[in-house]
Amino acid sequence: MEKEGYYGEFGGAYIPEILRPNFVQLKEEFSRLKEDKSFISEYHDLLKNFVGRPTPLMYAKNVSELLGGAKIFLKLEGLANTGAHKINNALGQALLAKKIGKKKIIAETGAGQHGVATACACAKLNLECEVYMGELDVKRQHPNVFWMEQFGAKVIPVKNGTKTLKDAVNAALREWTKNPEETYYLLGSAVGAAPYPEMVKFFQSVIGKETKEQFESEYGKKPDVLIACVGGGSNSIGFFSHYLNEKEVRLIGVEAGGEGTESGRHAARISGNGKLGIIQGYKSFFLQDADGQILPTHSISAGLDYAGIGPELAYHASTGRIEFTSATDKEVIEAFEFFAKKEGIIAALESSHALAHAIKIAQKMNPGENIVVNVSGRGEKDLFIVARAVDKENWIEFLKKEVIS
Ligand SMILES: Cc1ncc(COP(=O)(O)O)c(C=O)c1O
Repeated sequence: MEKEGYYGEFGGAYIPEILRPNFVQLKEEFSRLKEDKSFISEYHDLLKNFVGRPTPLMYAKNVSELLGGAKIFLKLEGLANTGAHKINNALGQALLAKKIGKKKIIAETGAGQHGVATACACAKLNLECEVYMGELDVKRQHPNVFWMEQFGAKVIPVKNGTKTLKDAVNAALREWTKNPEETYYLLGSAVGAAPYPEMVKFFQSVIGKETKEQFESEYGKKPDVLIACVGGGSNSIGFFSHYLNEKEVRLIGVEAGGEGTESGRHAARISGNGKLGIIQGYKSFFLQDADGQILPTHSISAGLDYAGIGPELAYHASTGRIEFTSATDKEVIEAFEFFAKKEGIIAALESSHALAHAIKIAQKMNPGENIVVNVSGRGEKDLFIVARAVDKENWIEFLKKEVIS
């Protein structure tokens, strides 16, 4: 039997003593509430009427016909309230925190999508909210900082280390140890110490459940391939969750290839050169140096710019159940533009990694085969990055005028 909180040799809960009572409480309350009919019905009511679920599953007809291979379908998580899958988990955990009497929520964020989702859930559920965000990400994803503040959250820029997600996680954990009784740490991906990976998967598995129901009821069969981008792993594990035991369905996770996995400027843990380690409370693959220190990562998408990968995904990588690959920043921008121009879909740069891989493999597959891509978020937040990449001159002129006026 698996040791609790472990997936094979991955996972566990490597936490400071001061936080142990919180983890014990969290484990007990999560086990209780996930079976509690009134909690689940309140959560589902919010998913339906506040988040806007189910999100659509769309046949990308134009793109499929242009590529001339497998049919590509898109699960449009970007149409959920706040524009990404992150709200499924943020709302679930915020509701759990409220039920167990916590007054204040703290969270880390990378791209800002989890921060926005958490701030939004806290506004809805009337909870105080503080979000830690690397200073670099504050700059890269400034529109999301603005929206978090509009939801009433306090955004705290983290100036240590590489000033990205890993430093934001460390800062949030430090803050939690200061007031563990009243605060709840709302973790945004399927990472961290147990029971977070299990809990995040539980709340994100709604994506997989809907996809299975929508696809199979419409087409009367299973899809051949599912593709999702992988940062910490919450959208992918949620999306894959209902097909993990159906071996005939290929599951592919796409990591951030950045400037190429040979360049050292990427965030490819499995498809690149991650090594086994215990960092930030869990055992998994991390990009690390010979002394076990986390290496700086790079990606055009802030949401995939993280050195660790969720323990359940690491396990499925080790058994071969989930295949891993990467897409480079350049391929991501090309995929972004292709889907915008041909399908009218503005995908988040994170999700565009999955789209880039779909483009690569669709052409080698038969028209009778089907790929479903989880478009984990919408790309309006990436306006500043995409505009620089594709329309540098006009965009910079526009920004200059905006600053002057
Ligand atoms: C739109 C979107 N997709 C994917 C991710 C990656 O996170 P995860 O791997 O937990 O789904 C993020 C993270 O911020 C995101 O904003």
